[in-house]
Amino acid sequence: MKLIIANWKMNPETEFEAINLAKASDVSGLIIAPPFLFLEEVKHSLKNAKLAAQDLFWEKLGAYTGEVSAEELKSLGVEYVIVGHSERRALGETDEMVAKKVKAASDAGLIPVLCVGESAVERASGLTEEVVTRQLLSALELLKSLISNSLPFIVAYEPLWAIGSHNPATPQDVVKVLQCIRTLLKHLTLDLSPFVIYGGSVDALNAHDFLKEKEIDGLLVGGASLKPDQIIRIVEISSLF
Ligand code: PGA
Repeated sequence: MKLIIANWKMNPETEFEAINLAKASDVSGLIIAPPFLFLEEVKHSLKNAKLAAQDLFWEKLGAYTGEVSAEELKSLGVEYVIVGHSERRALGETDEMVAKKVKAASDAGLIPVLCVGESAVERASGLTEEVVTRQLLSALELLKSLISNSLPFIVAYEPLWAIGSHNPATPQDVVKVLQCIRTLLKHLTLDLSPFVIYGGSVDALNAHDFLKEKEIDGLLVGGASLKPDQIIRIVEISSLF
């Protein structure tokens, strides 16, 4: 089974629109990540799709103005959480913060969706695998002593230059990086059962090219997930594989 995650980012503007979008996109096989503010209402609107958050904070509770903990997300029925999205890293989130968030999510029983990916400049300098390896190793640093049972874990390869650019990576390039991610995870002593997925300018027209690759376990979809016909089509395509 392939995973399709809809990352709504900071959309839509109102709760009313969020409920409508959730109802129109509510198919099984889809995981929806709305803004924090709409999680509860979206949860109530969904019968089939599952719920993700777009971020979390690593502390359990306390004086952390504006932050949201893993426990709070769980209490709303959230099952997955995106961690280390490049749009958050661009706002100052460091590898160390990402590592604490991955650990907090895992400790609370939320499934982390760890985002990794290189910038256009890093890519042009041939640093893709180096950057992805660094991000992955540091994000998993704190998990090392932790897990005994197999932990569901999702790594999303999202090259920065492909996000929101209408310029997706080629499936061949994605497969190469995903193989590198898998090899790295295998070498770590962690007992993870990783899904490795791709994100960056995916839509209903190009989804098939990615999903047909057996190395690609699913897709993280941004812009196209705001259009129910597109995201439902992507889920339909994913069910073929
Ligand atoms: P995009 O975003 O599909 O709009 O490129 C993907 C993401 O940032 O998760």
